[in-house]
Amino acid sequence: MNVLPSHRPLRLASLLICLSLTSLQVGAQDFDPGRALYENHCQQCHAGWVHTREGRKVTRLDDLHARVGAWSVHAGLHWTSEEIDAVTRYVNRRFYQLTE
Ligand code: HEC
Repeated sequence: MNVLPSHRPLRLASLLICLSLTSLQVGAQDFDPGRALYENHCQQCHAGWVHTREGRKVTRLDDLHARVGAWSVHAGLHWTSEEIDAVTRYVNRRFYQLTE
C-alpha cells in the first residue's frame, strides 16, 4: 500500500497563512499613516502648541480638514484626499476632539 503524506503541504500552507495574518494585524495596530505624515512634515514647526494655544483658530471638523489641506499645499506636499483625511483624524484625535 502506498500512503502518501498528503497532509504535509496543507499544514505548511495553514501555518504560513497564520503567520502572515498575525503580522498584518500587528502592523495595522502600530502604524497610523496620519500620525506618520504629521510627525514627518508638520510638527517641526508646531509640535502641538498651535492646536492647543489660547484662541486657536480651528473650531469645526470641516475647517480642520480645510486647514490640513491648505498646509499640505503650503508645505509643498500636495497630499491626496486620503492623506488629508488621515492627518485630520490624527490631529483631531490628539488635540481638538471635535465631533462636527
Ligand atoms: C513652516 C512652518 C509650518 C509648517 C511646515 C506647518 N505649519 Fe501649520 N501652522 C504654522 C503656524 C505658524 C501656524 C499658526 C498660523 C496662524 O495663527 O494663522 C499654523 C497653524 C496650523 C493650524 C491651525 C491651528 C489652529 O487651530 O489655530 C493647523 C490645523 C495646521 N497648522 C496644520 C498643519 C499641518 C497639517 C501641517 C503639515 C502639512 C502644517 N501645519 C505644517 C506653521 C507651520
